Amino acid sequence: MLKFNKKERTILTSVVFLYVIASFQLSSWKLEKQFFRGFKTLIPTATEGQTINLKTFKPANMKGAPIAELRSQLTQQFPYDPSQPIPRRIWQTWKTPFNSPKMSQGFKDFSGRWASAASEAPLYDYTLVPDDHIMPLLHNLYGAVPQIIQAFDSMPLNILKADFFRYLVLYARGGIYSDMDTFPLKALDEWPSIKTSRLPKPEVPIKYKGLDSASSPPTQEPGFIAGIEADPDRDDWNDWYARRVQFCQWTIQSKPGHPLLRELIINITATTLASTNVKTNIKAPDFIIDEGHKDDYFVNARGKKRLDSKFPPTQKKTAKNTDGTDTMNWTGPGVFSDAIFNYLNNIIQTNPDIMIINNNLKANNMEDGSGTRKFYRKITEGLMSSATFVTEFFSLIEEPVIVDDVMILPITSFSPGVNHMGSKPEDDDMAFVKHMFKGTWKNDPKPSSKGQRQQE
Ligand SMILES: *[C@@H]1O[C@H](CO)[C@@H](O)[C@H](O)[C@H]1NC(C)=O
Ligand SMILES: *[C@@H]1O[C@H](CO)[C@@H](O)[C@H](O)[C@H]1NC(C)=O
Repeated sequence: MLKFNKKERTILTSVVFLYVIASFQLSSWKLEKQFFRGFKTLIPTATEGQTINLKTFKPANMKGAPIAELRSQLTQQFPYDPSQPIPRRIWQTWKTPFNSPKMSQGFKDFSGRWASAASEAPLYDYTLVPDDHIMPLLHNLYGAVPQIIQAFDSMPLNILKADFFRYLVLYARGGIYSDMDTFPLKALDEWPSIKTSRLPKPEVPIKYKGLDSASSPPTQEPGFIAGIEADPDRDDWNDWYARRVQFCQWTIQSKPGHPLLRELIINITATTLASTNVKTNIKAPDFIIDEGHKDDYFVNARGKKRLDSKFPPTQKKTAKNTDGTDTMNWTGPGVFSDAIFNYLNNIIQTNPDIMIINNNLKANNMEDGSGTRKFYRKITEGLMSSATFVTEFFSLIEEPVIVDDVMILPITSFSPGVNHMGSKPEDDDMAFVKHMFKGTWKNDPKPSSKGQRQQE
């Protein structure tokens, strides 16, 4: 079993401490600067996002304007630079600091393995953010976009906050976020995102409607990396999972400012501010929503809840009336998976030069002779007729897939050894993180739902 040595502990504690000190000062300064400009924040919708180029979006000049759109505020605060490497940083969060007797030995062991992996790889930092430091850290990072902090503070359940926190910290600072019930299986610079010699090379050129000519194959580190969580290739998949192909959000790697995370954060902020009793202890400008697409904003206006008269659309969501299926679509793997598909579809619909590499399409890669290729016709039709990725584009993959600077890893990468849906053992070449499915979202009253989000 690995433990922190004294030096590692000291580094950890001092990094977190510095953050907290810096954050109190910065946040009050940023907030003051912000608040007396007298603008309202417009929270846009996904519907509106379909019509603009999310990859190349540039913030509007907001100086003196009466309305500042949240997308512009975020982009201005965290501009995306795809030429920068992925920050060598690991984020975790837990109720207590590492030294606390309240942290279980199991979690000490797991987080110790991340800290050791960080100390073994050149230039990596490891930060465990305890609950007490979350608000100061968010004030530091998002002081100039206070609607974000307001949304976070208004969330009625810890599971929602735990989900939202990971996206926020990665969008602001980048690196790897991983849940406390995970541990790394390989050196961090073995990940195909970092060891760029492992990036897939284009073997079959993939075309889509509107493609002029694809940019050259990537040579630099991708900007956003996610793994497959669930890939139930069976007719009754919806009895077990919320999505036909679901991406996991217990481990995510990203560069700061990535537009895919920005869109996810906008969606969650919009849903939260419209669907809850917004708390007023965070000072923020008034916000307005896009009245023409009101249904986009309400948890109760989606999916099954829409048809259930017990849940009228504008009923405010509280700890009591929010269940596991709501969290799935509000902050969890449901909306996370949708955000990935929406972003990827948007960029091929609005750019003529997106490089798509999916070498899984070339062969029947599964042992039983099936594989991504069996969906070849459906995939090609989606791409050629409407520049759309059908979900099967990511089904049964065994090699990483690249769309522009987004990399999707096979189920084995972050979910090895689960013995289903094509997941291979932990010693596989593509296995990087082990997930113990213990549930890490701290004292919520209700257990979760589909997609293996269990309560500890
Ligand atoms: C958020 O994403 C969901 C899909 O998960 C979508 O139905 C909804 O319209 C989006 N809401 C906003 C405000 O963008
Ligand atoms: C969550 O979203 C999915 C896909 O849009 C939908 O089928 C499902 O009914 C939604 N769940 C709830 C509880 O609204």
